[in-house]
Amino acid sequence: MKPKVYVTRMVPQAGIDLLKEECEVEVNPEDRPLTREELLHNIKGKDGVLCLLTDRIDAEVYDTVPEIKGFANYAVGYDNIDVEEATRRGIPISNTPDVLTDATAEMAWALLFAVSRRVVESDSHMRSGQWPGWGPLQFLGGDLSGKTLGIVGAGRIGTAMALKSSGFKMEVLYYDTQSNPKLESSLNARKVELSELLAKSDFVSVHTPLLEETRHLFTLDTFKKMKPTAYLINTSRGPVIKEADLYTALQEEYIAGAGLDVYENEPELTPGMEKLKNIVITPHTASATVGARTAMATKAARNLLAMLKSQKAPDCVNPEVY
Ligand code: GLV
Ligand code: GLV
Repeated sequence: MKPKVYVTRMVPQAGIDLLKEECEVEVNPEDRPLTREELLHNIKGKDGVLCLLTDRIDAEVYDTVPEIKGFANYAVGYDNIDVEEATRRGIPISNTPDVLTDATAEMAWALLFAVSRRVVESDSHMRSGQWPGWGPLQFLGGDLSGKTLGIVGAGRIGTAMALKSSGFKMEVLYYDTQSNPKLESSLNARKVELSELLAKSDFVSVHTPLLEETRHLFTLDTFKKMKPTAYLINTSRGPVIKEADLYTALQEEYIAGAGLDVYENEPELTPGMEKLKNIVITPHTASATVGARTAMATKAARNLLAMLKSQKAPDCVNPEVY
């Protein structure tokens, strides 16, 4: 008998096709996240689950599927999953690293350019039909070449973001628990304390995973330590930033602006934020390229197929279970 898998929302077909070669596959037919009740109900009796960052996977879920062979998360971040509890129960969990690294770093750059050069604001102005013609003081933005880029969290994505700065001859600072020899050798990047990074950077780009230690790493105090001309970019996880404080910092102009792809309480925004002129906000789409999302789907599928055969999943995040 073929193993039964559940996919909590449609992902690119290539991943579904891979699963179908070996499994009976059921996919959430609606293009929306499952409710809690639907999730608990629909995964009953399944051997494996391909889940998303919008699904909370915890003890209650594990209780529903005591025989489960594993969960493959369609994301590199897995803060939506109680991995500790999964490990205690011997349940493998996997993620989708590497395939979205460039796409995410590119989006961080897209936000950086868009907010500092006021691209979205200018676009709205043009569309409004109110442009009076060229003017020497219109839409002045931030300078980029030769400025300082501060990377908070120099893992795969933070490293890729930093490496892409070389064409702009930027000075690169990074803050991480570990040294990054690649950044140091190829960009002369310097590992510094967060306070130094905040004080010196013209652009601060956040790439940490969401962990207890990184939750609310950025608060009003943090923004007050940044240059008033600096921009903040976040393509990691919303709760790394205390969003209400960011709203205050932007409104009071403690910093020049922010480019955000992730939010503290998705899909909600801190009320009033949508009215700010000095932000560019995208709907958690940093990995949303055709190539990255297709590769994430096949990667998640391959991980799940390995789990179903009780083989070590290539991107298992809790290999202690083996
Ligand atoms: C997206 O946010 C991911 O973690 O892959
Ligand atoms: C995630 O892929 C990271 O290490 O930045």
